[in-house]
Amino acid sequence: MFHEIPGRVLEVMEELEDEDRRDRLDGTPQLERLRQVPPETGQFLALLCASAPAGSVIEIGTSAGYSALWLALACRARQRQLTTFEILPAKASRARTTFERAGVGDVVGLVNGDFLDHAQSLGDVGFCFLDAEKNVYGACIDAVVPNLVPGGLLVADNVISHHDELESVVDAVRRDARVDAVVVPIGRGELVARRV
Ligand SMILES: C[S@@+](CC[C@H](N)C(=O)[O-])C[C@H]1O[C@@H](n2cnc3c(N)ncnc32)[C@H](O)[C@@H]1O
Repeated sequence: MFHEIPGRVLEVMEELEDEDRRDRLDGTPQLERLRQVPPETGQFLALLCASAPAGSVIEIGTSAGYSALWLALACRARQRQLTTFEILPAKASRARTTFERAGVGDVVGLVNGDFLDHAQSLGDVGFCFLDAEKNVYGACIDAVVPNLVPGGLLVADNVISHHDELESVVDAVRRDARVDAVVVPIGRGELVARRV
């Protein structure tokens, strides 16, 4: 997977990494910033996604599509499809350009809308990456966990960087007997929950 990243995927990834780095330094307003995961988190996501059981692969919070590119590598390796949800039309439009330029349109489907409006029709989920606004984490997790297949994985970003905001959500997942969960200190801190 990592040894065969197509040149056009690498090129778009590097451009997004540069833009995200600039965003964090130059005071770009939050709504316009990419706010994407760092490369090591992208690799971690791809490894977990490639190891996930059958079921749909979803992402909540696309931004310009950087983490989705990592997940697309895993989906291509496993002949699976990613569905990624983005609420903001401007970000969804950026992501569409990203996927087209990187040549991953065959494995990535983008939904421009609020994930919670689609949560009723999820079906079986094998892998979910949650990276939206922190105030919807609880509702997203409540929607996804019942749909995880046995062994299915839910990964949530920012649980260390936003510890205070997310502490009660993380505690609730740790207490939830339907999943085994750990916090992994990679990037901004990933909560990894596996359906028992
Ligand atoms: C931190 S950024 C995602 C970064 C992206 N995962 C990456 O690493 O490249 C969060 C994104 O989630 C989107 N978002 C927030 N709430 C959402 C919701 N309820 N449904 C879908 N997208 C949402 C925001 O508009 C924003 O673009």
